Amino acid sequence: MTSENQKTEQNKDFLSIQDAMNQGTGTVALRGWIHRERGSSKFKFIVLRDSTNIIQCVLEREKIGDEKFAAIKKIQVEACIKIFGEIVKEERAPTGYELHANDFELVGDSDKFPITKDQSVEFLADNRHLWLRSRKMTAILKIRSTYIQARDEFFRNKGFHRFDAPILQPNQCEGGSTLFEVKYYQAKTFLSQTWQLYGEAAVFALEKVYNMGPTFRAEKSKTSRHLSEFWMAETEVAWYDLHQISELAKEELKYCVKKVAELRVEELKLLEQDAAKLLELSEKEWPTIKYREALKILKEKCGMDVEFGKDLRTIEEEKLMEHFDVPIVVTHYPKEVMAFYKPVDPEFSDEALCFDMLAPQGHGEIVGGSQRSTDIKEMTEALEKEGEDIKNYEWYFDLRRYGSVPHSGYGIGIERIIKWICGLENIKDAIPFPRTMLRWMP
Ligand code: 4AD
Ligand code: MG
Repeated sequence: MTSENQKTEQNKDFLSIQDAMNQGTGTVALRGWIHRERGSSKFKFIVLRDSTNIIQCVLEREKIGDEKFAAIKKIQVEACIKIFGEIVKEERAPTGYELHANDFELVGDSDKFPITKDQSVEFLADNRHLWLRSRKMTAILKIRSTYIQARDEFFRNKGFHRFDAPILQPNQCEGGSTLFEVKYYQAKTFLSQTWQLYGEAAVFALEKVYNMGPTFRAEKSKTSRHLSEFWMAETEVAWYDLHQISELAKEELKYCVKKVAELRVEELKLLEQDAAKLLELSEKEWPTIKYREALKILKEKCGMDVEFGKDLRTIEEEKLMEHFDVPIVVTHYPKEVMAFYKPVDPEFSDEALCFDMLAPQGHGEIVGGSQRSTDIKEMTEALEKEGEDIKNYEWYFDLRRYGSVPHSGYGIGIERIIKWICGLENIKDAIPFPRTMLRWMP
């Protein structure tokens, strides 16, 4: 390339496909990847893709010359090109505009792309690094990004502090059976199952804290809603009780869902989801019921007899949610089957001051939270029952020894939320590179 060319090259103002379509007329320079291609001896049609959208481009042999035409005919799907031409409105084109090209340059050539139509879920999972470029995955990734950014905004606006916990931790918090053990020099430690215990330590300094971090659980069940590595978005607040914390969870989710509904209309449409409906849902009342009321609904409306004392199973959550079209909060699960830190309700000794939030349309539990026990004896007994070494929890009990205050918190499974918002069948599509019992590649 001559210096003269380099200069023009640098000065060329590339537009994103979306911006070019917004402009609607005139000469533009675009760059992107070949999403689809077809042609005849006189014309080549390319659907060009960039991070913003797709556009049909037409290259006419007569206009670009024999040499360039021969070159573009050889280029395969996923090659990256720069393309220059006139943008015009064209109703028949996939996104309503067309680029009538007068020139192009090859930036990165492509071998025969392994992903073609109608491939198996496993094949797409093996090629996840390439499948991320699909329109479906791109839409999901944008929605995920928007959701997480909205959540940050929500907590910043409320004056919360972001607080980071270690990933390598000495304790379990949500049951020992799903811990991932890590060799740690001469000792052993575990990958974080939750940020919570550290979030609790932080409220004595910062009062209102939140975070989002990678979370690990060696889930042995192969379900459509469990990952071995997922992102939990957690919150902990001093002085809050069960009612206040579960209302905060609703407010947070409504804020983020609303933002996604406003900012990701096209992406939701591509996933066959209705942004208007989502927006409506974010403005509705989300009910709170007690676990005992849930059992009553299950019995009276679903003919399911669940005895008090068991956690709700997937099938029961699904049946219950057939009676709600918005997320609901269920509080006061049986103390007996709850984690050690969930306190007993002083009024009902078999109930815990805890809550789950369940999503409609069969997506199940999306949030888990509780008031936190301040009773060292109660917690010690629960941990001993689980066979835990109390010594590892002394630091946590210190939080109750030195100026303890009532406090509460919760954790949101980001992938569970994205699964629900995007209407996905499997949670694996809610995260770029899923990790499950059977998959840790690529
Ligand atoms: O209900 P969980 O286990 O609650 C906790 O971990 C608390 N310590 C959180 C807190 O109070 N700070 O998990 C919280 C949420 C669940 O409601 C679910 O959305 C998600 O995390 N989750 C999973 N998501 C994907 N794969 C898994 N294996 C998950 N396990 C939990
Ligand atoms: Mg839970």
